[in-house]
Amino acid sequence: MVSVTQHRMPRKRTYLICPPEHFAVEYAINPWMDTATPVDTELALKQWTGLRETLLSLGHEVHVLPPEPGLRDMVFAANGAFSVDGTVYGARFKHPQRTAEAALHREFYDRLGWRYVAPSETNEGEGDFAYLPEAYGGLVLAGYGYRTDPAAHAEAQEVLARPVVSLHLTDPRFYHLDTALASIDDSNIAYFPTAFSSASQTVLRQLFPDAIVAADADALAFGLNLVSDGRNVVLPAEATGLAKQLAAAGYRPVPVELAELKKGGGSIKCCVAELRP
Ligand code: ARG
Repeated sequence: MVSVTQHRMPRKRTYLICPPEHFAVEYAINPWMDTATPVDTELALKQWTGLRETLLSLGHEVHVLPPEPGLRDMVFAANGAFSVDGTVYGARFKHPQRTAEAALHREFYDRLGWRYVAPSETNEGEGDFAYLPEAYGGLVLAGYGYRTDPAAHAEAQEVLARPVVSLHLTDPRFYHLDTALASIDDSNIAYFPTAFSSASQTVLRQLFPDAIVAADADALAFGLNLVSDGRNVVLPAEATGLAKQLAAAGYRPVPVELAELKKGGGSIKCCVAELRP
């Protein structure tokens, strides 16, 4: 019997999301995408609207990026940039089908007057970067192996002036860091160890001895593709085991149904970019 020993405090967040109005699977750039499986865009939009309402009901500020016809994956707003302390490290997509998204994110930050640094190296924003403001004085975790080039990790460290820990993703189903690891508050993570090389697993155990370790079924349900405000953890409804683990650790799981977007290889976190002023 696990007892709840901690009362977790939420912190108000600012998010950027983009409606899946033009979402479709017309190319396959990750193992979840199958161009032969039909996508119900109406259903995707309905589920996404539920996500937006959930974020708003938790008291967060939510910006909406206008979707662009032809950019099928633009709903996955997390990939558009990565910001820390008001500095935005821009994205540079690996696949040509998504290249044009980076400039649309840039325009958004420019309108807000944020400092935007255009990258030289290939990186997919918050898909492969996570930030923990209270871990080791402010730590960036960064994934590589499928999308983001390790050279972008060094570039991000120079741009953001925070230590960046490189983690090697080794299972193609977990092709972005945010499919296998999530910050659940300012200093702790939940993750799926076997998505990482054994050396990276050792590094994560050393840095985060109190991490929540997800089971296979929850990881495959994209349970780690979650968004947390430090107390409320918005996660895919299917990830019931992880929800129980989070509750036992004092967090409040908030399940959201987003299964239609799984056909694109993403879930909740993929759809939500956090803006860190
Ligand atoms: N179809 C998109 C791609 O392969 C999904 C992106 C998911 N986003 C994420 N942050 N994991 O690029």
